Amino acid sequence: MRKVRTAVVGLNMGLQHAYAYHAAEQAELTWVVDLEEEKAARVAKELGCRYTTDWSAIIEDIDAVSLCTPHHLHAPQALQAMAAGKHVLLEKPLATTKADSLRIIHAAEEHNVVFMMAYIVRYLPIVRRLKEIVEKKEFGEVFSAQCWIQAYLPPAPGTWISRRETLGGGVLFSHGCHYVDLLIWLLGHPTISAAVGTNLGTEWMEGEGTAHSIMKFESGAVAHLVTSWGMKYKESPALLHLHTPDALIAFDMRTIDVIDKQGKRTVFGPVDKIPEDRGTNAVFQVEHFLDCIIKGKTPETDGWESLKSHQAIWDMYSFEENHSQ
Ligand SMILES: NC(=O)c1ccc[n+]([C@@H]2O[C@H](COP(=O)([O-])OP(=O)(O)OC[C@H]3O[C@@H](n4cnc5c(N)ncnc54)[C@H](O)[C@@H]3O)[C@@H](O)[C@H]2O)c1
Repeated sequence: MRKVRTAVVGLNMGLQHAYAYHAAEQAELTWVVDLEEEKAARVAKELGCRYTTDWSAIIEDIDAVSLCTPHHLHAPQALQAMAAGKHVLLEKPLATTKADSLRIIHAAEEHNVVFMMAYIVRYLPIVRRLKEIVEKKEFGEVFSAQCWIQAYLPPAPGTWISRRETLGGGVLFSHGCHYVDLLIWLLGHPTISAAVGTNLGTEWMEGEGTAHSIMKFESGAVAHLVTSWGMKYKESPALLHLHTPDALIAFDMRTIDVIDKQGKRTVFGPVDKIPEDRGTNAVFQVEHFLDCIIKGKTPETDGWESLKSHQAIWDMYSFEENHSQ
């Protein structure tokens, strides 16, 4: 069977996509693309593919593309690729506005292409196991979730990340969307989504650099999520605590621990780090994308599924707008 000819556009986060396609048996990494020619040339040399600075010039030479570019470019680039009949793996978030997000979703349907959001967290084996634990109520039914995503971005004033319009919001929209998606996937449809945010501590950002969100789900479960790009000092960059009447399930991306009446034990992990040249954590989502293309399946994180987390975040933003005095 012919391999899926792929290109990656944008070679910062996209580098992980490029490594993952390069390592995947079902793909042929055909092109890497970046506006910085030197960067593209270096990656192409390392991975044995071609490079260009103009992705629209190579569109006819590929079957599928990973778009790993700034958020305000997601809609125009995804729409262009889909109109040319290409399958698209789009870095999160969908787009900077709801209207553009819907345009992408409808275009994927109209042009009958595979469209997947790169919700990388969902596809990690440790997260698949966490989902199974929650879904099968292995340690009871979750009634409370607390999640802390504590990152630090060096100040980058004047960049697309610093501007609300090009980022689509603040840290909650850009980075928090992974974890809002995870909470919805684990706990179900949210009936209440609210947040407050600040750019104290991240004054270089127009949008919030730190957000505290609360959610309530149809099941009755409640969640609290902290997301930040201003936290230089922390004990762990990512933590999720799920409480059931009988246990605490503690997850930190490498390990799942359970604390209950039998004491504390590790039920998954610690996970080994995947080597850079295999695409680190991007390898799992890329394999799912390729599988969907080859088998004609709908990705788990298609447009409609991904829109749920985006809508929850837009609701969170509306809460603060409506309650500011
Ligand atoms: N899933 C994750 O963990 C994760 C982490 C970081 C970033 N991201 C996502 O990846 C995407 C890119 O973020 P980033 O941090 O890599 O941004 P970045 O600004 O650091 O890098 C973007 C790259 O794209 C290139 N580029 C910009 N416009 C281009 C164009 N028109 N054609 C070709 N190349 C172009 C730039 O030269 C740059 O090398 C965003 O959607 C972001 O949210 C995801």
